[in-house]
Amino acid sequence: MFAEKLSKLLGGMLRPKPRYITMAVSPSAEPAQALPPDTMPRHVAIIMDGNGRWATNRGLPRSAGHAAGVEALRDIIRASDDWGVQCLTIYAFSTENWARSKEEVSALMGLLLKYFASEIDELDEKHVRILILGDVDGLPEAQRDAVCRAMERTKDNTGLKLNIALNYGGRAELVRAAKALADQVKAGELEPEAIDAAALEAQLYTAGQPDVDLLIRTSGELRLSNFLPWQTAYAEMVFDRTLWPDFDRACYLKALREYASRSRRFGGVEPKKATEDEHG
Ligand code: FPP
Repeated sequence: MFAEKLSKLLGGMLRPKPRYITMAVSPSAEPAQALPPDTMPRHVAIIMDGNGRWATNRGLPRSAGHAAGVEALRDIIRASDDWGVQCLTIYAFSTENWARSKEEVSALMGLLLKYFASEIDELDEKHVRILILGDVDGLPEAQRDAVCRAMERTKDNTGLKLNIALNYGGRAELVRAAKALADQVKAGELEPEAIDAAALEAQLYTAGQPDVDLLIRTSGELRLSNFLPWQTAYAEMVFDRTLWPDFDRACYLKALREYASRSRRFGGVEPKKATEDEHG
């Protein structure tokens, strides 16, 4: 027994360094998981869809689907951190989601509070920086306080950038950016001729971050639903039929492999590497 353990330990120490990122995956994932580091997306955005159907399929209330969705999210954040994704943006609550029943909105808001209370220590320890994309002022007071505290606590962290789209709408984000530029022009701080893509980008919630490389939507729906219209202009899209609570590391890895196999041309004709930083 002892000899077996010792030989395993020595074997581990003597093993040569892998040329590829080797990913620790859940037991449900296939065994040979490796992706060349230069094919990893810098920015992944996820529309976590299908919580309601997941719950309905089980005869449970929709809120149970959202609770299960938080469990799935926890592991996808860990995986993003483990695998060296720079930015992960998740669609947690859209400006349109207020139209859901009072019970469902209240369940989602409750989950949000629970999430920050239970996860913030681990996220901070892992140097994750939390940024909220959306109208924070439009959130109920308790949620507003919780997200502001999380942003403040993690603002100097240099690890994974975790963008949580909350009370977010893509068109509203663009309107907000246009207004900010108009205010600068009005104040004499900006010439209208100086307005270009970089100037507008600087007014987005995601200012300074790379564009989305890979957008994943679960549950088989094939639309963007007002999510990051500017940032996804050249994103590769992966639509997975899995309902969000069932989306695990194996599904994530499959999406990353799909991304790695794509040839990105950014409107040009020459194939470019998946993560090249030149947007033509
Ligand atoms: C879409 O599924 C999902 C949402 C509107 C909410 C997503 C939220 C979470 C996963 C948890 C909350 C997040 C945090 C950060 C605590 P749906 O309800 O539209 O599913 P359906 O299309 O099957 O009805």
